[in-house]
Amino acid sequence: MTDDLSGPVPLPDRAPAAPAGTAGAGQVPVLRLVVEDLAGTRRVAAALAEVLTAGDLVLLTGDLGAGKTAFTQALAAELGVAEVVTSPTFTLVRHYPTERGFVLLHADIYRLEQLAEVVDLALPEALEDGAAAVVEWGERGAPALLDEHLSVTLASPDPVAETRRSIELSPAGDPWVGRWPALLARLGPGPGPAVAVPDGGARSEGDRR
Ligand SMILES: Nc1ncnc2c1ncn2[C@@H]1O[C@H](COP(=O)(O)OP(=O)(O)O)[C@@H](O)[C@H]1O
Ligand SMILES: [Mg+2]
Repeated sequence: MTDDLSGPVPLPDRAPAAPAGTAGAGQVPVLRLVVEDLAGTRRVAAALAEVLTAGDLVLLTGDLGAGKTAFTQALAAELGVAEVVTSPTFTLVRHYPTERGFVLLHADIYRLEQLAEVVDLALPEALEDGAAAVVEWGERGAPALLDEHLSVTLASPDPVAETRRSIELSPAGDPWVGRWPALLARLGPGPGPAVAVPDGGARSEGDRR
């Protein structure tokens, strides 16, 4: 897969990706959640941590300050990472041993310009060796990563509600589609950390209380 990506292939701009599900809606499962604060984001990350395993790739999308690093910090904490998880913007990839027996890789490809630079990170190889990886701005480098991944898109839907975030999750490929019901069970309607509105609308956590 990487052979044809070693030439000069510029990465796409850093404009936020279109919300998941706007293309091919109905084909791709999308769960849209709205959380009111950082604690809500942490609960979503905690639910993801419950189903995350070695070899998994999570691509984080969202503008600067959307909460990609905060989400990763929460995920890492849930996985039992003892170290402080900091933004990997300059180091590109950080390695965190978890309590689950696999290493969590945290990458940020914001600064990269060429697809070949993403290839050089060798993330698919690390995943094959049993790591799990979270990649900020990951959709930009998706062609050099794995077709099988979970997309997580964070956004601030309301400039007045500073800590409110929309969080969209969408599975790509069998490993994630297979676990989708398990994720929905942890995040979907009913008792749980957040409210799922599968038809594309969104409610806040507070609406169901
Ligand atoms: N609901 C929320 N989810 C995530 N971050 C939040 C939330 N509310 C406030 N924040 C704050 O927004 C900032 C997000 O920054 P960061 O995670 O570095 O963004 P990114 O990595 O997407 O650029 C942090 O200061 C975090 O505390
Ligand atoms: Mg970040």
